[in-house]
Amino acid sequence: MEKVRVCLIGCGRAGMIHARGYAGSIREAELIALCDPFEDNLRAAASELSVKYTYTDYREVMANPEIDAVVVVTPTQFHREVVNAAAKAKKHVFCEKPMASTAEECDEMIAACRANGVKLQLGFMRRFDRNFRRGKELLDSGAVGQVTLIKSNTYGPSHPKEWMYDVRRNYGPIGEVNSHDFDTLRWYAGSEVRMIHAVGHNFRSPEVADRYPDYYDTCSVLLEFENGVVGSITGAQYVTYGYDSRAEILGTDGIIKVGAQETNSVQAVTRDGKITADSVDSWRTLFRDAYVEEDRAFIRSIINDTEPEVTGHDGKMALVLVQEGLRSILEKRPIMINNDREGDDDESDTAS
Ligand SMILES: NC(=O)c1ccc[n+]([C@@H]2O[C@H](COP(=O)([O-])OP(=O)(O)OC[C@H]3O[C@@H](n4cnc5c(N)ncnc54)[C@H](O)[C@@H]3O)[C@@H](O)[C@H]2O)c1
Repeated sequence: MEKVRVCLIGCGRAGMIHARGYAGSIREAELIALCDPFEDNLRAAASELSVKYTYTDYREVMANPEIDAVVVVTPTQFHREVVNAAAKAKKHVFCEKPMASTAEECDEMIAACRANGVKLQLGFMRRFDRNFRRGKELLDSGAVGQVTLIKSNTYGPSHPKEWMYDVRRNYGPIGEVNSHDFDTLRWYAGSEVRMIHAVGHNFRSPEVADRYPDYYDTCSVLLEFENGVVGSITGAQYVTYGYDSRAEILGTDGIIKVGAQETNSVQAVTRDGKITADSVDSWRTLFRDAYVEEDRAFIRSIINDTEPEVTGHDGKMALVLVQEGLRSILEKRPIMINNDREGDDDESDTAS
């Protein structure tokens, strides 16, 4: 295969980040098609990126034999049907997180890709971020001894969209904001979660409290891993000051700190005694290079016929934690996770 010919399905916020990466930086791939049922979005994307084909129905994408791989960046509720159709059409799949709406849907998607012999990579781009990756390298090198405790936080600036208030249908911040933290902790801990206990509260949107009594914008999650590692995740939405994502790995012989709220190391110290630095405003800025690296890794796994670095199993396990985390918040109790249940049944897909 000379170049992997790619179609983007879903030309919205995150979709266009992938599309620009493919169009500009990934030599081994060619973005040849775009698909979006909303003509305005499709037109805007097509006017920015010159592609051979445009589609308003993803089923037409599947009928085009020139397309080798699809990048699925539709709203989450459509991931399952699009991924299953792509697998059936023998197209390799990159799928954004959260993988689907339920763990059962994830199983179906993993099985469809496996049965049709196509790659399935999930969109946890922090695994390709320079800093998060360096943290993992240091950890694996034994620099801080044995891992004991891992913390990760994600606080996002945006005002919640109306649909996000209905957490029983959409999980709320634990899914929107913290699914990345769940993946990071599984990756760093090298183990699956045995127990999860989450609490949450709505501080910033009191006006919706009557209509959406379960809505929370701030949460704290305690995790116990099967190998004994203790995990702690905090999340918040609509924090207004910027996008804030950091992690900390405490080992028996030291600590690794990943990420900072400043975009760079430049600070201004002024005569009023204040220190200022430019802060990160968005995930688009903070993880710009990580998106390109994850897309490049996907293409290389196709060309070299290797297992993607972030698998369907990783996508499913993050979703299980989102589901059980919300259940813990709503039922106000810790939840034990059963990792032995029937499912995607892939021994090679461990959280290493
Ligand atoms: N990895 C990350 O950090 C990250 C960041 C943002 C969003 N996401 C994920 O990416 C996905 C998309 O989120 P977004 O913020 O870009 O949403 P968005 O609403 O900005 O874009 C979604 C696009 O999909 C299109 N669409 C809707 N139904 C479709 C269908 N059936 N077929 C093809 N296209 C369809 C919409 O018209 C829209 O253009 C979600 O799963 C989201 O959770 C991941």
